[in-house]
Amino acid sequence: MKVRIKDDICQGHALCFITCPEVFHLNDDDGHAYVKSNQVPAGLEDKVTTASKSCPEGAIELTP
Ligand code: F3S
Repeated sequence: MKVRIKDDICQGHALCFITCPEVFHLNDDDGHAYVKSNQVPAGLEDKVTTASKSCPEGAIELTP
């Protein structure tokens, strides 16, 4: 599974980071989320999916 943050849509709600800090981080400068790697580490697919659903902006894109 791959994950991507749509930079133009993210508003910094941080629910992704709260849900799965192993994958999502917040940029100290603009408060927007980023991912260390687009490839979701094994075993974290469910958490990343939950994080994606938690984003009120729909800014987290998952691809199989
Ligand atoms: Fe951005 Fe959504 Fe996370 S708005 S900070 S991707 S919860």
